[in-house]
Amino acid sequence: MANINIPWRIKIIAKIAMSRTPFGYALWQRLGLFRHGQMDNSDYAIRIFRSHLKNAGIVNPKGMTLLELGPGDSIATAIIAAAYEAKPVLVDAGAFVRTDMLPYMNLVSALSEEGLVPPDISKCTSVHEILIRCNAKYLTDGLKSLQQLESGSVDLIFSQAVLEHIRYDEFQDTMLECYRLLKENCHCSHQVDLRDHLSEGLNNLRFSRALWETRLFSSAGFYTNRIRCDDMLEHFSQAGFQVLKCTMQRWNRLPINRKHLNSEFESKSDDELCISVFDVLLYKPAVTNDVLAGNARSL
Ligand SMILES: C[S@@+](CC[C@H](N)C(=O)[O-])C[C@H]1O[C@@H](n2cnc3c(N)ncnc32)[C@H](O)[C@@H]1O
Repeated sequence: MANINIPWRIKIIAKIAMSRTPFGYALWQRLGLFRHGQMDNSDYAIRIFRSHLKNAGIVNPKGMTLLELGPGDSIATAIIAAAYEAKPVLVDAGAFVRTDMLPYMNLVSALSEEGLVPPDISKCTSVHEILIRCNAKYLTDGLKSLQQLESGSVDLIFSQAVLEHIRYDEFQDTMLECYRLLKENCHCSHQVDLRDHLSEGLNNLRFSRALWETRLFSSAGFYTNRIRCDDMLEHFSQAGFQVLKCTMQRWNRLPINRKHLNSEFESKSDDELCISVFDVLLYKPAVTNDVLAGNARSL
């Protein structure tokens, strides 16, 4: 929803009401009332792409398969990756990308101005045609889409403000899929935004899980799974990843009075709850002969 200073309670009611109308996401997107991020902005999309490659220590992704989780409003990553001669795979939980050609034409101009050679999309009239030009996949069924991809086929998985949106009961399976898809000795780079998507505080922690996970709430556009940083790190480890780096941004003090927290979050320390955003780099180690031998012995 547009970033106007509306009280969080009103936002919840307005977003639930919008989600119950027969109009689809495309209308709210066109009116600028609701958006899945900023990937239709060329500068933003290029900056995000480069920041994750840099985080993973990739200087030249030529020939690599790069998977973006949750591209949101545009297939920008497909065009950027193709300009670097990489193979893009985009996986979202719905088909939210803009279907007009403007953001894609702007992106091609921006990349060309930097001396890169993006694919020629001047004759494309649909997102589908652009994807073909970029040799890209765009899958829109979340976890089910990941399950269709080949094991050990991806060199880098990245996401920007996405992991917090994955449904709570699908989070661990999604991490397991990421682990399965990644090649050995490769990385995942994620930025996770733990602020509520209402007033950038922690008002989402007021609610019981029973209410928060209902369809009414989870499909209304402000849903986040409310998994805190420590628990997400635990999920990554349980999926098999090594956490190589985790950089946190914090509030100076809790943005909510503790007495308003739902009992589920009462045991979390202020220190933990004050983490507002974090960047994490995960690593899938190679399976060594020692590990294989150990597994064989325990059978
Ligand atoms: C806040 S938007 C961020 C979009 C984009 N990454 C950006 O930075 O502008 C969150 C995105 O995560 C996607 N998402 C939610 N659950 C997902 C899932 N299980 N798998 C892949 N993407 C998911 C949403 O559909 C949405 O496109």
